[in-house]
Amino acid sequence: MGRFPLRDTFFLKAKREGFRARSAYKLLEIQRRFHPIKKGDRLLDLGCSPGSFIQVARAIVGEEGFIVGVDILDTQPFSSKNIVILKMDVCKMDVREILERFGFDFFDVITSDVSPNISGVREVDEENRKNVYEAIKRIIRSGLRKGGNCVIKSFFTESFSSIKDDLYRIFKELHVFKPQASRKTSPEVYLVCLNKN
Ligand SMILES: C[S@@+](CC[C@H](N)C(=O)[O-])C[C@H]1O[C@@H](n2cnc3c(N)ncnc32)[C@H](O)[C@@H]1O
Repeated sequence: MGRFPLRDTFFLKAKREGFRARSAYKLLEIQRRFHPIKKGDRLLDLGCSPGSFIQVARAIVGEEGFIVGVDILDTQPFSSKNIVILKMDVCKMDVREILERFGFDFFDVITSDVSPNISGVREVDEENRKNVYEAIKRIIRSGLRKGGNCVIKSFFTESFSSIKDDLYRIFKELHVFKPQASRKTSPEVYLVCLNKN
């Protein structure tokens, strides 16, 4: 067997409950604890494929909400009219152009589960993570409303504490959270950022 059991409890639960990926349980836990997403929200989901965050978010935002999912890979479309998927690189996207396209001023919530590809070369991987973080920060700065919330996957690596400090300057409240559904062996952790300044 490899580093991870391929069919762990959350994988099997996701299959049984109709979620596209086990990640659904990470966002469910975050929502239960911190309530970053509200009914009627306009939500931008970065790194959305295969789409389990969107499934969870759609149940919360309901009919009045709107979700834009972005991924560099294809995402199987959703039948709901208020879910739009865009195939693009977060490092190249212009969030103002996306907002204009849908006639919105801002998003209420931004979630990011982006996992940059791992090369195995420490410096290269750290540089990729930094670039993705800088892109997400740009998107938050110009695309998230004042008072809005954000959930960002981050990694316990060299740049973690500077990213955390940086986000502290943008939001009034910040929580570092490791959901049960996140593998203990994974360096991933979620930054739950509430109430943008
Ligand atoms: C862990 S998966 C996301 C799972 C998703 N949250 C869900 O619940 O189904 C990470 C995603 O990040 C995407 N990704 C990585 N780099 C990206 C980039 N530069 N721009 C957009 N998406 C990216 C990958 O293609 C992958 O689909």
